[in-house]
Parts: sequence; structure tokens; C-alpha cells
Amino acid sequence: MSEKIDITLTVNGERRELAADSRMTLVDFLRDELKLTGTHIGCEHGVCGACTILVNGEAVRSCLMLAPQADGTSIVTVEGLGPAAGELGPLQRAFRKHHALQCGFCTPGILTTAHALLTQEPDADADRIRDVLSGNICRCTGYLPILQAILEARDSYRERSHATGSP
Ligand code: FES
Ligand code: FES
Repeated sequence: MSEKIDITLTVNGERRELAADSRMTLVDFLRDELKLTGTHIGCEHGVCGACTILVNGEAVRSCLMLAPQADGTSIVTVEGLGPAAGELGPLQRAFRKHHALQCGFCTPGILTTAHALLTQEPDADADRIRDVLSGNICRCTGYLPILQAILEARDSYRERSHATGSP
């Protein structure tokens, strides 16, 4: 039997306090309770990467976490990648420029995965990016423009890294 558990977390910079069903996955919680439907659900068992978000700065598959496990964490979803609501971040702008999406289903997970990588490793080369992207399945197979877009956006992450002095 499931029960409701009070949790407090920060989502895209906003503190949220809610009761979460003890059996609800984090991705369902984000989509159904917080109405953040940018995070997609594909395989529901940790393989496709569509549900990837950042939890305390790490790329995490939100279908593999229960909502109560996110208590006390700081989460960033694809909706939080821009500098302000309705504005695109460097990765999103580069994806648009390079037509790095087709149906777009995998795109939120790829954007969050790439954001985590470039934040931690702003000098990641093409091989490293390919390696990390191997965990995100794009059934439209548009990997080349995806790689080109991430390489272009990398400059923004490098500049930010040099400006703040942190990776
Ligand atoms: S839906 Fe989570 S990895 Fe596929
Ligand atoms: S753009 Fe269609 S699954 Fe990736």
C-alpha cells in the first residue's frame, strides 16, 4: 500500500514542498504533480535516457528514482536550462541552429545529459561527448547534428568556466 510522504526540494531554482506518493517515480512526479512535462518517459527502466534530469548536478535517470528519494535535493529539468523562463540556453540554441532533433522525443534527455557533461567537463572532446551520449537513445538517429550542436555550445560552457574559475 502506498502512502504520502512530505518532501521538500528545489526544482529549477524554486523551492517546492509537496506530498509525494511513496511509490511514484520521480519522472511521474515531475510530469504529473509539478506539470514539468518536458522530461519524457521512454523505456521506464533506465536504458533510453529520455527521462534524464540533473539531481544535485549529476545526470540521473528519473524513472529509476522514487519521488520521496528526491527529498532535500536540487533538481534541474530541461525547463530549467535557459537563463529565464521562455529563453533558450546555449545548448538549446545550438540544437535549433544545427537541426539536432527530428521527432524531439529524446531531446530533453540529451540536453540535460550534455549540460551535466559540459558543466563538469567544459573541455570534453568529441570522443568524450560520443561516449557520454551512448547512454541516450535517439530512434531518429540524428547523432551527427547532435554532436555538432554540443561541440558548438561547448564554447559557452568554457567561457563560463573560465569566468567563474570552476569546472
Ligand atoms: S525512461 Fe528513464 S531511461 Fe528510459
Ligand atoms: S529526435 Fe526522435 S528520438 Fe531522437
